[in-house]
Parts: sequence; structure tokens; C-alpha cells
Amino acid sequence: MSNEGLRGKTALITGASSGIGADFARQLAALGCRIILVARREEKLQALQKEIHDRYGTPAETVAMDLSAPNAPQKLFDRLKAQNLAVDVLINNAGYAVYGEFHHMEWERCRQMLELDVVALSHLTRLFAADMVRCSSGYILLVASTGAFQPTPLYAAYAAAKSYVLYFGEALHHELRPSGVGVTVLCPGVTRTEFFDVAGQEMTAFQRMTAMDSADVARIGIRSMLVKRSCVVPGWINTAIAWFTPLMPRQFMAGMAARMMK
Ligand SMILES: NC(=O)c1ccc[n+]([C@@H]2O[C@H](COP(=O)([O-])OP(=O)(O)OC[C@H]3O[C@@H](n4cnc5c(N)ncnc54)[C@H](OP(=O)(O)O)[C@@H]3O)[C@@H](O)[C@H]2O)c1
Repeated sequence: MSNEGLRGKTALITGASSGIGADFARQLAALGCRIILVARREEKLQALQKEIHDRYGTPAETVAMDLSAPNAPQKLFDRLKAQNLAVDVLINNAGYAVYGEFHHMEWERCRQMLELDVVALSHLTRLFAADMVRCSSGYILLVASTGAFQPTPLYAAYAAAKSYVLYFGEALHHELRPSGVGVTVLCPGVTRTEFFDVAGQEMTAFQRMTAMDSADVARIGIRSMLVKRSCVVPGWINTAIAWFTPLMPRQFMAGMAARMMK
């Protein structure tokens, strides 16, 4: 499937109510995809559904759902099956972070984060990948983070979860390549979205200086997905950091990350 080949295909985007996910939805709609928008805030999804319909004339469905709830991915999958909606493009984007010292963290919030960022992402991939392999076509994009490349104090559990997403996605890229299904991991650095408000961190000067626009990050993700790259890091500063990090001792990089997060 190329850019043009996406016309009339169905794209499911998790975390579509704001930030990078909303931009994925706009850009895939502009390429002619039918869009399925998933997140918890229904009114935001409906506003985006209307925007997509008015601007691009493409159909969009909304599914208001907490993907960290027990068995939510299976319920979503069954609901789309019942509607006869086959998903050609899965954008596994929903995710959030909890900022702060791990031993002070409210456990339930941390557990739900891991449930969403790791378990729901894996379960959705398992469900939709099987259908894609049967059709010998499809794209899966997993949103990780530059936090995936090193231990990150104050984002310890979140960054470790994103390391899971990176390695999981890169392994699947190889597993599924012979079947014709593309798997791409997008590793954004700091991006201007609701992310930092949700995480509870005031952005540092470095983060403000290097922040990218969510529309640019989504564009790079889609472009890389369409050429079936295994992994992409948007922005030259983020790319340089991702390239440099594995060359250094991990504890040194953990110390650097700790200084950058305060
Ligand atoms: N912004 C950054 O600096 C940055 C950097 C690296 C990686 N990322 C990653 O990029 C992805 C998108 O984040 P963003 O920056 O666009 O932040 P965002 O604006 O906060 O968007 C997060 C999306 O996830 C959805 N979501 C949160 N909890 C959910 C749940 N339990 N069930 C279903 N949907 C849920 C939110 O919608 P509702 O609240 O309506 O449910 C929202 O649509 C995340 O995976 C994040 O980890 C972001």
C-alpha cells in the first residue's frame, strides 16, 4: 500500500482525542482513510469526527473507551467485527506518563499507565495483526519515545514501558515482514501536546527549546510507516540523542537523563 493506496482503507487510531493521535487522524483522513477514533473523552472525539468530515469528507467513527479497563482491547475488536469493519492501519498511540520518584507514586495510576502503554498496546496488536497477516497486508505503528533508549530517572516506569514498545515493535517488524504486514516504531522526543500536563511535570528549558509540533511528528510517523521502516526518531536533535545513547555506558546516560528531567 502506498500513499495513494490508503484511499478507502480503514485506520484505527488510539489516543485520538488530542496531541499526536489527533494529528494522525487528520493526516490519514486527508489521505482518504476511513477513520476510527478511540479515547476516553467522547466530546473531543466527536469534535474531531466533525472536523474530519467537514474538511476531508471522509467517514469517521468514534469509540469512547478506557483502553486500560479489563479486556477493553478485546471488546473494541469484537465491536468492530460486529460492524464488519476491517482495520488496515492500526496506530497504537494512546499512552501517558506519570512523572516523579517511583516510590512516591500512586500505585493505581502507575498500574493503569502500564496497562495502557504496554498491555493494551500488545493486546490490540495481537488481535489486529492476525487479521492483517491473513490478508497479507496492513500497517501497524507503535508509538514509543526517545525515553525508550535509556533508563530515565523520574520517568522510570514510563521509560521502561516505552523500551518494551521499542523492542516489541522491532521484533514484530521482522516476524511480520514476510507476510507483507509493516510494523513501525515511532520514537518522539518532546512534543507540544497535553502529555506534560497529564504527567504532572513542568517542562524544563531544554524540553521547551527542543519541543516539536505534534503534526510534524505524526507526518514523520506516517511517512515511515508507509515505507515500512522498523523505527523512526523524529527531529535531528532526537535522532542525534538516539544515535549517541547506545554508545555510552547506561548508568552515565541515566545520570544525564536525570539532569535533563529536572
Ligand atoms: N508529547 C511528548 O512529549 C511525547 C514524547 C514521547 C512519546 N509520547 C507518546 O506519544 C503518545 C501520544 O501522546 P501525546 O503526546 O499526544 O499526549 P496527549 O495529548 O496527552 O494524548 C494522549 C492520548 O491518549 C489517550 N488516552 C489516555 N489514557 C487513555 C486510556 N486509558 N484509554 C484510551 N485512551 C487514553 C488520551 O485521550 P483521553 O484522555 O480522552 O482518553 C489522548 O488522546 C503517547 O503514547 C506518549 O507516550 C509523547
